[in-house]
Amino acid sequence: MATGKWLIVTDLDDTLVGPCPEDREALRQLNRHLQPPEIVLVYATGRSPASAQALIAEAGLLAPAALISGVDTAISYEQSPEQADQDWWQRLKVNWDMALIDKIALGHADSLIPQPAGEQNPFKRSFFLAPEQAKTVISTLRAQLAAAGIEAQIVYSSDRDLDILPIGAGKGQAVRHLQERWGFTASTTVVCGDSGNDQGLFETGSLGIAVGNARAELVRWLDINEHLPIYRARQRCAAGLLEGLQHWQVL
Ligand code: GLC
Ligand code: MG
Repeated sequence: MATGKWLIVTDLDDTLVGPCPEDREALRQLNRHLQPPEIVLVYATGRSPASAQALIAEAGLLAPAALISGVDTAISYEQSPEQADQDWWQRLKVNWDMALIDKIALGHADSLIPQPAGEQNPFKRSFFLAPEQAKTVISTLRAQLAAAGIEAQIVYSSDRDLDILPIGAGKGQAVRHLQERWGFTASTTVVCGDSGNDQGLFETGSLGIAVGNARAELVRWLDINEHLPIYRARQRCAAGLLEGLQHWQVL
């Protein structure tokens, strides 16, 4: 059980952690403020748990109370980082059949190349797929999964990565799961992001911070979602978070 005044959920790459030396300096400053018991800190990242842990160590990030990883299919907690939240997995189970998904994917073995084992979990199947083959393979896969009664999201990104994920997975759903678990509401939660895959965080209606280096796709989305309480920071990465947390009077 995590207790605190604020739940802060932040994306890692290009939100909390930036590539420039000044981003690292800002991160050190920010870390001084993100301390329990006032703050319950959660990271939400597309990275695998191992890759997220490597970044946490390398960038000197604070240990989070929870880590949402694997494109939002896994949640683990500070006390037992190796163990996935089984209640979350219960939620993802709806109309999901991994054995059947594997069988269908095997039928495309010439084009769907499985990503390394560390990227897979019982609710995430990830492959590499060449862009020339993407259109045909994805539409066939969609039809096959639907015919098998599986409700999956097929996400193709970076002209390379294909993820098959449960319909209920997503950063926003994972945040709601943690809010319910720990008794936070949208007005006691702050969510922070930089790109399109952080939209789910902002859709929870929590107090938002979009960093100054937000990508064009997120900025476009913010422009048409002005009713949401999202602060657009002027500064980039951790400095933007600091600015936003002051705006929301968390600090
Ligand atoms: C991350 C994950 C990879 C996934 C990709 C796109 O790179 O490690 O498994 O396919 O994001 O979601
Ligand atoms: Mg990011």
